Amino acid sequence: MQSRRGRFQFLASECPSGLRASSLQHMPLGKETARRRPVSGTQLQIGGGVSLPGIMAAKCGAEVILSDSSELPHCLEVCRQSCQMNNLPQVRIIGLTWGHMSQELLALPPQDILLASDVFFEPEDFEDILTTVYFLMQKNPKVQLWSTYQVRSADWSLEALLYKWDMKCVHIPLESFDADKENIAESALPGRHTVEMLVISFAKDSL
Ligand SMILES: C[S@@+](CC[C@H](N)C(=O)[O-])C[C@H]1O[C@@H](n2cnc3c(N)ncnc32)[C@H](O)[C@@H]1O
Repeated sequence: MQSRRGRFQFLASECPSGLRASSLQHMPLGKETARRRPVSGTQLQIGGGVSLPGIMAAKCGAEVILSDSSELPHCLEVCRQSCQMNNLPQVRIIGLTWGHMSQELLALPPQDILLASDVFFEPEDFEDILTTVYFLMQKNPKVQLWSTYQVRSADWSLEALLYKWDMKCVHIPLESFDADKENIAESALPGRHTVEMLVISFAKDSL
């Protein structure tokens, strides 16, 4: 995918819902650059795939690590190609499977922001995702998970799991970062699908 302005290059996605969600997630980062504030700190994208938010964060100046399941080499290759196409050789790519206590996870430095676009699509994975996030919260209790997702079922809820894992979440109104539109950044995304953004953090920390 290429935006009409041609600023970023992306592979045609096998995951259109992911692109819809990530088209929205790169907006808050874009606003910071528009205000000429460099986006600083360390940012890890989980379930990266085409990795639009991570690529955007790296372009804005953050120290970014992209990750996808260590069991899905094809998806890790997609992360690699996104970095190549956007001339970002400094971005690290690691295999990180949700819920697995791997060497890669243990070795990660504390992160400031975790990026996740369209990872909450399979309820049976929700707890594994939060387990990984919880582990990263132990390294930095102030870390926030910025998540965008396409609403697929009104029955799905994270509430009980957030309570269990001592986390809280805040919904971010789309209008607060000019994302309440069908055509973001001159693209055809997210279209008419309902996409939302939430920020998850440690319950004892104040957002
Ligand atoms: C719906 S796609 C979203 C991709 C990308 N974030 C986007 O917005 O375009 C879900 C992503 O999660 C990854 N994934 C699926 N199961 C995973 C797991 N158990 N651990 C880590 N990543 C996983 C997939 O490989 C895929 O890249």
